[in-house]
Amino acid sequence: SKGQPLKGKNVLISAGPTKEAVDAVRFFTNHSSGKMGYALAEVAKQLGASVTLVSGPVQMDPINGVELIQVKTAQEMYEAILERFDDQDMVIKAAAVADYRPKNPSQQKLKKKSESLVIELERTKDILKTIGEKKENQYLVGFAAETDDVLYYGRQKLDKKNLDAIVINDIGNLNVGFQSDDNEVQVITKTGQEKSVTIRSKHEIAQQLFDIFIEDMMGEAK
Ligand code: PMT
Repeated sequence: SKGQPLKGKNVLISAGPTKEAVDAVRFFTNHSSGKMGYALAEVAKQLGASVTLVSGPVQMDPINGVELIQVKTAQEMYEAILERFDDQDMVIKAAAVADYRPKNPSQQKLKKKSESLVIELERTKDILKTIGEKKENQYLVGFAAETDDVLYYGRQKLDKKNLDAIVINDIGNLNVGFQSDDNEVQVITKTGQEKSVTIRSKHEIAQQLFDIFIEDMMGEAK
């Protein structure tokens, strides 16, 4: 129906950062607040979808009527998403997932010993790439945070990860992207559309994004 175009659809959204242990008290993380992903979950719910929100550690209130799966590490986020992927109609990956984690996190607190300390890192699993390879009918959306040549790198991720759309944040601009209440994004779809959504609240950005994705999905179904 008009007001609820996602009625009967399952939508999974990832949000927030991941935390990767260095030792018993320290970890690597990033600046993601979860605001963008939570805004997407709220709008998906308003559009009638059954929404699952897989969230890294954030200071956000749960959303009424949205299933919240809380995870900490990139590995936990990978498992939570892979477990649920087959049932989804749409998956949007707004989370800022660690690309590397400490290879041998210490169970104890690391002691100060020498002047410098080397921590070996290993790659985490690429969630988007994995689900891009498994994808059947799911509409798959990635996010990208880039500081330079944003459209060029965005297009590369769209192709390499078999996405239907990519949303690119220019995080070189400090008023938008990580943590801010507002955002400004560019969207590229597999069908060749390129759209800019100028600065506005993350909630309004989420509404604009769903307009673009839903139109694109319907176009494909025709
Ligand atoms: O949370 P906020 O403070 O509101 O900020 C929003 C945001 C800037 C975090 C968000 O809008 C955003 O851009 N998220 C993606 C950030 C990111 O990690 O970009 P990336 O270019 O490193 O990763 C690209 C894509 O691959 C993302 O969809 C990411 O979820 C995914 N990825 C990355 C690594 C990994 N191991 N698995 C993945 O699936």
